[in-house]
Amino acid sequence: MKSKGSSGIEAPITRRNFLGTAAKAASAAVLGPSLFSIGTAFAAGPFVRRDVGGLSVGDPILISYANAIKAMQALPSSNPLSWAYQAAVHGTTVTPALTAWNTCEHGTYFFWSWHRMYVYWFERIIRKMSADSGWALPYWNWTAPGERQLPPAFRDTTSQLYTPQRNPAMNSGAGSLPATYVDYSSAFAFTDFTGASSSLEGTPHGAVHVGVGGWMGSVPTAAQDPIFYLHHCNIDRLWNLWLAQGGGRVDPLNDATWKSTPFTFFDENGAQVKMTGCDVLRATQQLNYSYEGEPTEINQFCDAKIRRPPLILKRVKLLHLPIPELILKAEPVSYLLDIKPLRKRLVSIIENKSETLLLELDGVEAERQPGVVWEVYVGLSPDAKLDAESPSYVGNVVLFGAGIRSEAHNEFKPAHFAFRIGRAIASSLKAQEDRLPVTFVARGILVDGKQVQPKVESQVRVGEISLSVERQERQ
Ligand code: C2O
Repeated sequence: MKSKGSSGIEAPITRRNFLGTAAKAASAAVLGPSLFSIGTAFAAGPFVRRDVGGLSVGDPILISYANAIKAMQALPSSNPLSWAYQAAVHGTTVTPALTAWNTCEHGTYFFWSWHRMYVYWFERIIRKMSADSGWALPYWNWTAPGERQLPPAFRDTTSQLYTPQRNPAMNSGAGSLPATYVDYSSAFAFTDFTGASSSLEGTPHGAVHVGVGGWMGSVPTAAQDPIFYLHHCNIDRLWNLWLAQGGGRVDPLNDATWKSTPFTFFDENGAQVKMTGCDVLRATQQLNYSYEGEPTEINQFCDAKIRRPPLILKRVKLLHLPIPELILKAEPVSYLLDIKPLRKRLVSIIENKSETLLLELDGVEAERQPGVVWEVYVGLSPDAKLDAESPSYVGNVVLFGAGIRSEAHNEFKPAHFAFRIGRAIASSLKAQEDRLPVTFVARGILVDGKQVQPKVESQVRVGEISLSVERQERQ
């Protein structure tokens, strides 16, 4: 008794199960488009995804993961359960592409949902391939100051969890992620889903990819590194943490495309499955997992009746500057924004709670992965110290996926960034400055806890800079 597009979880047909299924099918019609059926009952769980920082190198969770990788690597790459196939679902340079290859969502509002689905099916495959029936994917909680290095089990050169395809300093343990790579406060300040998701996709998501380097630094190779999945497990955990901030933060449930676009994966038996946004709104209820140390899950529903009237955001450009040429490189670069004609308007925006002032960068691109991140400061006085704790720090320019010419597999998409700058420019306005410096500072990973001059593998070109205001309105 399986509904179409079912997950492959099968339970013996009893009258109770049958009724349960029928009731679920009926409620699915009310709750919105769904292609995924969890069946009648979960055999086990809920599975708890644990913080890898609390696991010892020899923890059975990590041993099972390594065993599964070994078993998957032994399968031919045409087998959906093989390590190579699973990685290729995310991205690959191998042609011709097989079913579901190169389907990761970057630079779109499917970023959180697609990766949740991907990691979910991957976890089920590992559970089966490791023959460890209680297995759940651990998360790499890099924001915790004690977890900025690559987890030790992944640095053991004799383990399946190791690959030489990383920044050598991360593999030796000397390298660690700087605080600005893992800070999600800028992303969490956005109350709209797309704003938060796209900010988070850059930092911390992309920054951690760049920091680990090697395979992780590039979309077509990233998922070959076993650390990828622990990284994405943490990104997935942040989805719920973002919702838990409240203040109008909700999933895009008034967006039919977000809710009903189907994505293809494979279950642990190698059978194709499809899932939509509506299938992955409530991880514990729908997908049977939860996170260690997580606040209560915020349950979202694809049901119009439960939905609050959405806040809509209108974004208006105040100042649009086609700039001659702004190149980001190893040395700090500044660009001066002339804010004199806008002074009054800027003051009113900063004082208005329903308006947000944004600095936007468009047409951002590089030939290859630059291998570093640029910190962005607004209104920093020339003699001030570069310090991410300062109010002038607004976020990072990070390229991963969008914006890298050599990695574009269909159409090239330059990257776009939006930074909230209200706090940063408040003091410049007070000081009656007419020209506002926007400063870009290259930042590499720390080595032995210290900043080192980063090596920039590819310069970045910024096409346009603009100031915009975003206004919240009830629909
Ligand atoms: Cu699809 Cu972190 O990448």
